Amino acid sequence: MAVGLPAKEMKKILRDEKLKKIKNEVLKCRKCSLYKTRTYPVIGEGSHQAKIMFIGEGPGFNEDKTGRPFCGAAGKILDELLESAGIKREEIYICNILKCRPPNNRNPKKEEIESCTLYLERQIEIIKPKIICTLGNYSTVFIFEKFGLKDKIQGISKIHGKIFKSSNLFGSFDIIPFYHPAVVAYNQNMKEILKKDFQILKKVAN
Ligand code: URA
Repeated sequence: MAVGLPAKEMKKILRDEKLKKIKNEVLKCRKCSLYKTRTYPVIGEGSHQAKIMFIGEGPGFNEDKTGRPFCGAAGKILDELLESAGIKREEIYICNILKCRPPNNRNPKKEEIESCTLYLERQIEIIKPKIICTLGNYSTVFIFEKFGLKDKIQGISKIHGKIFKSSNLFGSFDIIPFYHPAVVAYNQNMKEILKKDFQILKKVAN
């Protein structure tokens, strides 16, 4: 540990170390059976000082092969949405509810979410984002339940693009639910709805 550094530098080093510890734990994780079928776990990527954290569902085919979140088709859409809002990918942090790919991209199981989100909770606690953007129903439900907004849970079509405030043991932050970018693959019209919602994020972030 580097002694005598300014407090801000010290905090950064500690944060990096804690995130590295999570990475090492996930690499060895056997908490659920998904480790048996995955290639690489997808732990998270981006700035450890990020003000904005995006939380998706789980790795898909490309993410599983590379260990990087949102690097496939849904990632291309996410990149386009970020660009439309003037947000650089390297200044945010992106991770998922599940670190390992469910076979054939099936939906996450309750017990997988329960065991895997212990890592996500620690990532949130360490990075301390000011804005949490949930992508799709699974991450929205998890984050709303976790941060005292259970009574506000509705389908993503009702709450997308709205700002929800949460003050909790982890601190205070805004939560903005979005449709999962993959919806655009099934319905091109959704891109405009997502772009509008990203303009709301742009306003809040500024
Ligand atoms: N979909 C997700 O929810 N997460 C990814 O990392 C990729 C696709």
